[in-house]
Amino acid sequence: MKRALASILVSIALVHGATLRADSRAQNCITCHGEPAKHALESVHSRAGLDCITCHGGNAGEVDVAKAHGDALRPLRDARQSVESCGGCHSDVDQMRHFGLRTDQLSLYWTSQHGAALALKNDSDVATCVTCHGSHDVLGVDDPLSPIHPRRQPETCGKCHSDAERMVAHGLPADQVASFRASVHGDALIAKAQSAAPSCSSCHGSHGALPPRVGEIESTCGGCHSVVQEYYERSPHARAAGAKAAVTCTACHGDHGARPPSTDMFVGSVEGGCTACHSEETDKGLAVARRLDTDVRKLEATIRGADSAIATAAERGLFLGIERGYLEEARGLLVRARTMTHTLDPDALDDVLNRGQAMVDQTLENLATKNRIFRDRKIFTAIFFAVSIAFAIALSMHAHELVGKWRRGGVGG
Ligand code: HEC
Ligand code: HEC
Ligand code: HEC
Ligand code: HEC
Ligand code: HEC
Ligand code: HEC
Ligand code: HEC
Ligand code: HEC
Ligand code: HEC
Repeated sequence: MKRALASILVSIALVHGATLRADSRAQNCITCHGEPAKHALESVHSRAGLDCITCHGGNAGEVDVAKAHGDALRPLRDARQSVESCGGCHSDVDQMRHFGLRTDQLSLYWTSQHGAALALKNDSDVATCVTCHGSHDVLGVDDPLSPIHPRRQPETCGKCHSDAERMVAHGLPADQVASFRASVHGDALIAKAQSAAPSCSSCHGSHGALPPRVGEIESTCGGCHSVVQEYYERSPHARAAGAKAAVTCTACHGDHGARPPSTDMFVGSVEGGCTACHSEETDKGLAVARRLDTDVRKLEATIRGADSAIATAAERGLFLGIERGYLEEARGLLVRARTMTHTLDPDALDDVLNRGQAMVDQTLENLATKNRIFRDRKIFTAIFFAVSIAFAIALSMHAHELVGKWRRGGVGG
C-alpha cells in the first residue's frame, strides 16, 4: 500500500518535473498564467521548445507582475500584431528548414480576401492565423483535433461564415457551410469519411483563401475530377469560357451544394438541368440534350433487361460467372459514357455506347445458348429416363420368361 502510494507520488513528481524543465525559462509566467500554460504545453510549439517569452517577450525569473512583463510585453491580442508574430517566424527559412515546413503562409495570407481586408481596411472581423489555428493550443495540421483538419473545417470556417450578422456587414451570404454539409462532398467528407473528399480549403486554398474565379472553377474541380474536366474542355461551353457566356461546372452542379447528378438533368426539370438555359424548340442545345438523354437511357435500359434475364437464369441454378462479367463491363462503359456527356457531342459517345451494347448482346447470346443447353439437357434427361424405364420393364419381362422356362424344365436343358 505504502509502496503503491510512493510510486504514484514519484510519477506525479516526474511528470511535473518534466513539464517544468520543458518550459523552465518561463517558469514565472506559468506560475501566474495556469490556463494558457496548460494549452501551450500540449501544443506542437512546446515540442519545438517555444515558450511564453519567445512569443510575448517579458523577463524570466521575475515574480513581480510589472517586472516580469517589463516594458516590451507583446499581448498579441491585436490581429495584425499576432499575424506578424506567427507569420514572422513561419516565413523565416532558417528556422523552418529544420522542420521541413513551407514558409509562404504569411505572403499568401496577405493575398487572401482575409489578409486584404485586414491590411487595407484594418478589418479585424477576418480570419487570422489565430482564428484558424488557435494561439496556445496550435496542433499539427494532420492532427484530427486540429481546427483546420479537413473534417473540422466546416465548423472552424463556419464560426464566421455561418454567422449571418457578421457576414451581412461584408456583403456575403452565410449559407456555404450549411449547403456544403448537405452536398455530395459534405456527405463524402463527413458521413463517409473519404479522405479524397474536398473540404473548404481544397477549393479555396488555405492561406490565400479566395473564391475560384470564372475560368478557374474548371481547374479547381478538375484537380480531382480530371477525366470529367478533360471531356468538358472539348465542349462548346468550355470554348465559350473566355466570354461572359461561360458555362462552368458550378452552373450545372452548384458550388457548395453539389447534388448527386443524374440523367434527369438532360431533359427533366431538375435544378441545374439543360432546359434551364435551352428551352426554345429551335435551340441546338435542346436537341443535343434530347439525344444524350435517349442514347444514355437506351443502354441503361438494355443493361437492366439483361440483368433481370440473368436473375431468371440464376434461379434455374445455371452458373453465370462469364455473363455477369460481360454485364459488369457494359456497366463500366455506361459510366464512361455518362462522363463523356460532358463533351456535349453525342457522336463522341457512339463508340463507347456501341461497345456497351455489344457487351449486352454478348451477355444475352450466351444466356440464350445456356438456356438452350439447359432445355436440351432436360429433354435428353426425360428421354433417357423413358428409355431406361422401358429397358427395365423389358428386362424384367425377359427375366420372368426365363424364370418360367426354368421352372418348366430347366434352362438350356
Ligand atoms: C505575478 C504574476 C504574473 C507573472 C509572473 C506574469 N504575469 Fe502576465 N499577467 C498577470 C496579470 C495579473 C495579468 C492581467 C493584468 C495585466 O494585463 O497586467 C497578466 C497579463 C498578461 C498578458 C496579457 C496582456 C494583455 O494586455 O492582455 C500577457 C500576454 C502576459 N501576462 C504574459 C506574461 C508572460 C509572458 C510572463 C512571463 C514573462 C508573465 N505574463 C508573467 C500576472 C503575471
Ligand atoms: C506561439 C506563440 C505563443 C506562445 C508560445 C504563447 N502565447 Fe500567449 N498568446 C499568443 C497569441 C497570438 C495571443 C493572442 C490570442 C488571441 O488574440 O486570441 C496570446 C494571448 C495570451 C494572453 C492573453 C489572452 C489569454 O488567452 O488569456 C495571455 C495571458 C498569454 N497569451 C500568456 C501566455 C503564457 C503564460 C504563455 C506561456 C505558457 C504563452 N502565452 C505562450 C501567442 C503565444
Ligand atoms: C483561413 C484559415 C487559415 C488561416 C487564416 C491561416 N491558416 Fe495556416 N493552415 C490552414 C489550413 C487549412 C492548413 C492546412 C493546409 C493543407 O493541408 O494544405 C494550414 C496549414 C498551416 C501550416 C502547415 C504548413 C503548411 O503550409 O501546410 C502552417 C505552419 C500554418 N498553416 C501557419 C499559418 C500562419 C503563420 C498563418 C498566418 C499568417 C496561417 N497559417 C493562417 C488554415 C489557415
Ligand atoms: C518563434 C517561431 C514560431 C512562432 C512565433 C510560431 N511558430 Fe508555429 N511553429 C514553429 C515551429 C518551429 C514549428 C514546428 C514544430 C514541430 O514540427 O515540431 C511550428 C509548427 C506550427 C504548426 C504545425 C505545422 C505542422 O507541422 O503541421 C502550425 C499550424 C503553426 N506552427 C502555427 C503557428 C501559429 C498560428 C502561430 C502564432 C500563434 C505560430 N505558429 C507561431 C515556430 C513558430
Ligand atoms: C474569424 C472569422 C473568419 C473565419 C474563421 C474565416 N473567415 Fe473567411 N472571411 C471572413 C470575413 C469577415 C470575410 C470578408 C472579408 C471582406 O470584407 O472582404 C471573409 C472572406 C472570405 C472569402 C472571400 C469571399 C468573397 O467573395 O469576398 C473566402 C473564400 C473565405 N472567407 C473563406 C474562408 C474559409 C475557407 C475559411 C476556413 C478555412 C474561412 N474563410 C474562415 C471571416 C472569417
Ligand atoms: C467544391 C469546391 C468548394 C468547396 C468544397 C467550398 N467552396 Fe466556397 N466557393 C466555391 C466556389 C466555386 C465559389 C464561387 C461561387 C461563385 O462565384 O458562384 C465559392 C464561394 C465561396 C464564398 C464567397 C461567397 C459566396 O458564397 O459566393 C465563401 C465565403 C465560401 N465559398 C466559403 C466556403 C466555406 C466556408 C467552405 C467550407 C464549408 C467552402 N466554401 C467550400 C467552391 C467551393
Ligand atoms: C478534393 C477533391 C475534389 C474537388 C476539388 C472536387 N470534388 Fe467533386 N467529388 C470528390 C469526391 C471524393 C466525390 C465523391 C466521389 C463518389 O462518391 O463518387 C465527389 C463527388 C462529386 C459529384 C457527385 C458524383 C456522383 O457520381 O455522385 C459531383 C457532381 C462533383 N463532385 C462535382 C464537383 C464540382 C462541380 C467541383 C468543383 C466546384 C468538385 N466536385 C470539386 C472530390 C472532389
Ligand atoms: C447556365 C446555362 C446553361 C446550361 C445549364 C446549359 N447550357 Fe448549353 N449553352 C449555354 C450557353 C450560354 C451557350 C453558348 C450559346 C451560344 O454560343 O450561342 C451554350 C451552348 C450549348 C451548345 C452549343 C450550341 C450551338 O449552337 O452550337 C450545346 C450543344 C449545349 N449548350 C448543350 C447543353 C446541354 C446538353 C446542357 C445540359 C447538359 C446544357 N447545354 C446546359 C448555356 C447553358
Ligand atoms: C452543362 C451542364 C454540366 C456541366 C457544365 C458540367 N456537368 Fe458534370 N454532369 C452533368 C450531367 C447532366 C451529369 C449526369 C450524366 C448522367 O448521369 O447521365 C454530370 C455528371 C457529373 C459527375 C458524375 C459522373 C461522372 O462522370 O463521374 C461528375 C463527377 C461531374 N459531372 C463533374 C463535373 C465537373 C468537374 C465539371 C466541370 C469540369 C462538370 N461536371 C461540368 C452536367 C454538367
